[in-house]
Amino acid sequence: MSEFELSEERMRAIVDEAMERIVDFIGTLPEQPSNQLDGAEKAARLLIEPLPEEGEPYEGLLERLFDEVIPFGFNAAGPGYLAYIPAGGLFQSALGDFIAKSVNRFTSIWIPAPGLAQIEAVVVRWFCEVMGYPDDALGLLTTGGSMANFTAVFTARRERLEEDFLRGSIYVSDQVHHSIQKAAMLAGFPLSSVRVVSSDSDYRMRLDELDELIEADRVDGWQPFFVVGSAGTVNTGAVDDLAGIAAIAAAQGLWFHVDAAYGGFFMLTKRGRDVLKGIELTDSMSLDPHKSLFIPYGTGSLLVRDRETLARAHATEADYLPTLRDDPDFVDFSEISPELSRGHRGLRIWLPLKMHGAGAFRRQLDEKLDLAQWITEQLRGIEGIEIVADPQLSLVAFRLVHPGLSDGELNDLNRRFLQAVNDRQRIFISHGIVGGKYVLRICALSFRTHMSTMEIALADIRSVVDELAEN
Ligand SMILES: Cc1ncc(COP(=O)(O)O)c(C=O)c1O
Repeated sequence: MSEFELSEERMRAIVDEAMERIVDFIGTLPEQPSNQLDGAEKAARLLIEPLPEEGEPYEGLLERLFDEVIPFGFNAAGPGYLAYIPAGGLFQSALGDFIAKSVNRFTSIWIPAPGLAQIEAVVVRWFCEVMGYPDDALGLLTTGGSMANFTAVFTARRERLEEDFLRGSIYVSDQVHHSIQKAAMLAGFPLSSVRVVSSDSDYRMRLDELDELIEADRVDGWQPFFVVGSAGTVNTGAVDDLAGIAAIAAAQGLWFHVDAAYGGFFMLTKRGRDVLKGIELTDSMSLDPHKSLFIPYGTGSLLVRDRETLARAHATEADYLPTLRDDPDFVDFSEISPELSRGHRGLRIWLPLKMHGAGAFRRQLDEKLDLAQWITEQLRGIEGIEIVADPQLSLVAFRLVHPGLSDGELNDLNRRFLQAVNDRQRIFISHGIVGGKYVLRICALSFRTHMSTMEIALADIRSVVDELAEN
């Protein structure tokens, strides 16, 4: 027997030992620091070592991982993580991954693992249904929103432009996530092909300017082909007027993609559907189950209205592969994406959705909408706090204003404000720059974040505001 093959007892024992550490980690999350950077550099340097020729005991490795490696940095799994766009990380998903990786089936093509491949396809169909796409729409699971955005730009380029595509132009707002610019570069476009449309006072794309830029580009011999709407910007959580962009895209013949990496799954809620109206009119959308569906990092999704576009964009021949299916019920994911071998991504979503039902996710998201409203009202009542952007979903942007300070001094004040809040190590928040202003932002999205966390956030913010008023 190979020395890698473990006995049944040993398999059980090492999983039990890991489980003990994991249960302890998850159980103590509310008491753990929200961020721990002291000593992090030293700990990371200690990991730099030569390739070991001989193994060492598992128990010691587990101890080192949980005691000396994992505790450092931002505690993204904890309830106090309100920075960037939180994920949470459902344990049920980790279990799905554990099963998928233990059975190690090849799921990028249907025939080697029809059931598991189908699970991935079913998850994508559920997403299409939630987003209001037609029954024959399709998509795939990616590693994240960035790869979904890349696949969207690439697919639209193949669909709408000739092989010689360098006169193609792309339209985004000044609030768009940088992964779109990266996606354009990866899809072969110089950054000068990306036109930046200003946003209005609510940080939404200005539609009059979009129309004008498209017209002007046509006159100059460009081929406008792709416009991106944002459904939840990273700075302020703004959702563009999606129906408005859809009308312009239709009139101008552009592919309309929406980056709904943050906001997309709020479509499960009534309030979310009102805010995201028009999302169903897009040609494609990026979603991040590892944001608003609480799945652990490593899962994004791209949906396309016309499933054939993905197949056409990625079409190549390889006669050494197993026979591909020509049946709309079954999907060969390698045919519609850049990847061939990859880990199975379906179970980590399918398992929690089947175990809890969509209703549980809807209730969680509704709670986050309430929490964002609540904290916004509380912040509004603190002297000196200016709400820069009210939540359209579950993100509020704000800053501290002391009279008589210049713009630069106000930005420095808010940098100190952020640092002092995070130094208390109970919550962890991050910043954005909008219109030259340094703003703090609270994004309530983790399934572990409840009212008790918001109360802690409020107490810490209040005490830092008082402290800064005295200095
Ligand atoms: C609006 C938006 N789009 C795209 C991305 C990129 O997604 P990912 O980090 O999953 O690649 C993010 C990440 O935070 C985001 O907030």
